[in-house]
Amino acid sequence: MSGRHTKIISVGAAVQDVFLSNSPEFKAVSERPDESFIQLELGAKADVNNITFSTGGGASNAAVTFARQGLHSIFMGTIGHDPAGMAVLNSLDQENVDTSLVSYSHSYKTGYSVLLLAPNGERTILTYRGASTHYHKKDFNLEALDADWLYVSTLSGNLELLYSLFSQAKARGIKIMFNPGKRELAQREKLVALLEDVDVLCVNRDEIQQIVEGASLEELVRHGHHYCPVVIVSDGPNGIVASDGKTIVRAGMYHDVKVVDRTGAGDAFGSGFLSQWAQGRSLVESIIFASANSTSVVNHIGAKTGILPKGVKLHHMPIHEKSY
Ligand SMILES: Nc1ncnc2c1ncn2[C@@H]1O[C@H](COP(=O)(O)OP(=O)(O)OP(=O)(O)O)[C@@H](O)[C@H]1O
Ligand SMILES: [Mg+2]
Repeated sequence: MSGRHTKIISVGAAVQDVFLSNSPEFKAVSERPDESFIQLELGAKADVNNITFSTGGGASNAAVTFARQGLHSIFMGTIGHDPAGMAVLNSLDQENVDTSLVSYSHSYKTGYSVLLLAPNGERTILTYRGASTHYHKKDFNLEALDADWLYVSTLSGNLELLYSLFSQAKARGIKIMFNPGKRELAQREKLVALLEDVDVLCVNRDEIQQIVEGASLEELVRHGHHYCPVVIVSDGPNGIVASDGKTIVRAGMYHDVKVVDRTGAGDAFGSGFLSQWAQGRSLVESIIFASANSTSVVNHIGAKTGILPKGVKLHHMPIHEKSY
């Protein structure tokens, strides 16, 4: 199976992201990562020398990876009737993402974030979640749809909706990749029950530690395996560990890039993985592409700018595979 014949529905948030950067006012007050912050004086007017209009939201970012890789990519999520919603739709249209499953909120505006980017690539985000946190079951109906995969990012802790989606998908033979958010992770018992239907679980180190116990990434992946057949755990620049139950793969950094903006790193990694895995590529091949995709994304402002086009030439990376 390959290319346009592979159909993936990305479910979750789509928002407008506005990046403000290159400001002498956005310098970190402390160098210690755990207590570093941008301090803005009340009543002051801070000059900003760069503005980037972009769109984000986990599912809309993922949908763009799938489309750029030449797959049939469908976005399913809720926006408002407003200029930010138009920006979201335009960006998805331009990228060849199918928007026929987009729903509209009558009560909430499209999610909107202002991101204050510090020179080291870290950022402070002011976010209005709006329509991307108020979902209605009727808008997430898979009836009469055929697809190979469902890529699900956070649904804002709405586990009832996730349960309904997952059971519809399973009844229709659609596979599921899940990248839960903090509001799902906060409800561990219910979340674990949902994982039974998940084919690929993709989380970072902090997130998997909210699901299972374990000290090393490998131990965490092995324990995650009690719930899902494929488990991938990323740990930022420290690399990733993944397993499909046959082998365990450990990978380092694809390459050491300047982190300009880390927004969308996790989305680019997860969707980069599925864009290859769904086409029958191996665990190692899928992880190399995922790593290349996310490394490119952190090197650009915006969650979508650096997403790799189809056919891009990849280079080697530190990666090691052993049997499970
Ligand atoms: N500083 C970095 N340099 C190079 N690549 C990076 C860096 N940070 C992240 N990446 C790439 O992005 C991938 C995912 O990053 P990370 O483990 O931070 O995910 P995450 O915590 O889920 O991110 P997000 O906050 O976007 O959800 C990493 O596996 C790596 O390939
Ligand atoms: Mg993440």
